Amino acid sequence: MKKNIQIAIDGPAGAGKSTVAKIVAEKLGFTYIDTGAMYRATTYKALKENIKLDDEKKLEEMLLRTNIDLKPSPNGQLVFVDGEDVTEKIRSNEITANVPQVAALGKVREILVAKQKELAKDGAVVMDGRDIGTHVLKDAELKIFMSASVEERARRRQLDNEKRGIPSDFEKLKAEIALRDQKDMEREISPLVQANDAIYLDTTDLTIDEVAEKILSMAKEKME
Ligand code: CDP
Ligand code: CDP
Repeated sequence: MKKNIQIAIDGPAGAGKSTVAKIVAEKLGFTYIDTGAMYRATTYKALKENIKLDDEKKLEEMLLRTNIDLKPSPNGQLVFVDGEDVTEKIRSNEITANVPQVAALGKVREILVAKQKELAKDGAVVMDGRDIGTHVLKDAELKIFMSASVEERARRRQLDNEKRGIPSDFEKLKAEIALRDQKDMEREISPLVQANDAIYLDTTDLTIDEVAEKILSMAKEKME
């Protein structure tokens, strides 16, 4: 019988984590868990309630009375905050720019990580984020650290924006991505770093299908 393994995918913004994680999960019949969406949903609600984004106590209190749900759908994963569908709203520039501040707080991470561990406890999951291989799923059978040059990641984000009809400046996007990388890598708690036992995958010159194929073949080996 095939093993229900845990697959952890970490890396900086625009490396291709969520796109590839979704494909891999679908091909293996696993559940995809987008942890970034949880930090985005937390930031969404904090902004909505006018909570200061460095007020750890208030954010903790808010999270303890908030339901964040991830639901699979044919068009990808839907994200709900207290029953409200926020899937699109949490991708706004305002949220994106503010998430690292919220994600740097210990109490916020404690609550969301507990939820992530619970969701993954039975295996058969592909989870992506920044600290999955290093903290959330330390015993994951397969850990990938995915990256790409900052130019390529900005180019991908620009294409994403174009598809959504949002005009964007390449140099500005590049600077925003570099700043977010820096904040995620330099925070004290669970910074973005490659786990010792993670496999490094540079996706700069690879297509989505090529990356997915590489991970699928590694996963199948681990499942035997
Ligand atoms: O999709 P994208 O790479 O733009 O970002 P995301 O995965 O949605 O994550 C948004 C932000 O949430 C990151 O820049 C981190 O600040 C934070 N995050 C985190 O701290 N830990 C995670 N496991 C996932 C996301
Ligand atoms: O989740 P993360 O921020 O790491 O990246 P993503 O949202 O999965 O990917 C950002 C964009 O890059 C998406 O539009 C993907 O379709 C695209 N992409 C690509 O062109 N080539 C790859 N090898 C991976 C992703």
